[in-house]
Amino acid sequence: MKVLLTGASGQLGQALIATCPEGVELLPCRRQELDLSDTEACRRLVQEHQPDWVLNAGAYTAVDRAESDPELAHAVNALAPAALAEAQSEHGGRLLQLSTDFVFNGQQASPYRPDQVAEPLGVYGSTKAAGEAAVLKHSGTRVLRTSWVYGPMGSNFCRTMLRLLTEWEQLGVVSDQVGCPTSTLGLAQACWRVLALEDRAPLILHWSDAGAASWYDFAVAIAELGQKQGLLSRVAQVNPIQTVDYPTPAQRPNYSLLDCSATRKALSLEPQHWRVALEQVLLRIASNPASPSA
Ligand SMILES: NC(=O)c1ccc[n+]([C@@H]2O[C@H](COP(=O)([O-])OP(=O)(O)OC[C@H]3O[C@@H](n4cnc5c(N)ncnc54)[C@H](OP(=O)(O)O)[C@@H]3O)[C@@H](O)[C@H]2O)c1
Repeated sequence: MKVLLTGASGQLGQALIATCPEGVELLPCRRQELDLSDTEACRRLVQEHQPDWVLNAGAYTAVDRAESDPELAHAVNALAPAALAEAQSEHGGRLLQLSTDFVFNGQQASPYRPDQVAEPLGVYGSTKAAGEAAVLKHSGTRVLRTSWVYGPMGSNFCRTMLRLLTEWEQLGVVSDQVGCPTSTLGLAQACWRVLALEDRAPLILHWSDAGAASWYDFAVAIAELGQKQGLLSRVAQVNPIQTVDYPTPAQRPNYSLLDCSATRKALSLEPQHWRVALEQVLLRIASNPASPSA
């Protein structure tokens, strides 16, 4: 099976490369090989390689920056997936589009099901929702939504917290946004499972680690487990704050848990609780302290 991977330098992209199953011929594309803001380049690359799958892990993920850069975010998150999906459908190939819990507005109090209508709050979520709609017009495409992604590599909340916890005396972290941290280690496994299922996978899938947390809960766990694993020489006191006390350019959903039950069943895969997954990510970071810092 030939798989063209976009976003190969991203945190999920790196995890997908590290976990690539035997028998997969992987074509990892970083920005240098494919500029996702160039739709013609997206089409040409697919036509040249005619992969069985495109795994579109590349995205404009800077949620706040997207508010002042909507055109580029739309090009990367909506026009590129549309072009990749169309080019794939022309030769009978498939595409797995990664998407986000931020397509939901966070106004409900129970986990979002895959069939619920997207109602994004900001530019990032809107462009990801547009990407979903565009790829789903083509047969052979699948959308996998996930949430609060972090891992041993790349830029993410966990690695940023590890740095801030040693630099500051006190840290205020938002406690009224609830979701679920998702490790790239489990997420990559879920993606590979979707590809193996081919047409038997549901059209829209939800995957996160198990449980629920606020950003504050996540930060407290990073402090506790990071200290236990010897990653932190000193630890700031972490204080809960409200979203109104930490204004950001983009509005985020207050509640974005995903109902992953149908996906778990379809993939025959059970996620770990987010704290267990966090321990494993911290272990990886501890065993490779030279990885670029966030
Ligand atoms: N991060 C999260 O919390 C989160 C949550 C839910 C869903 N997701 C979704 O999960 C997927 C993977 O996200 P991630 O966390 O791995 O993101 P990431 O670490 O930010 O990686 C994004 C990748 O996209 C690439 N990219 C951005 N603009 C590009 C362009 N114009 N041309 C080519 N490549 C470009 C980046 O390249 P450079 O390295 O060169 O910048 C990077 O490799 C995305 O679809 C994202 O929307 C993420």
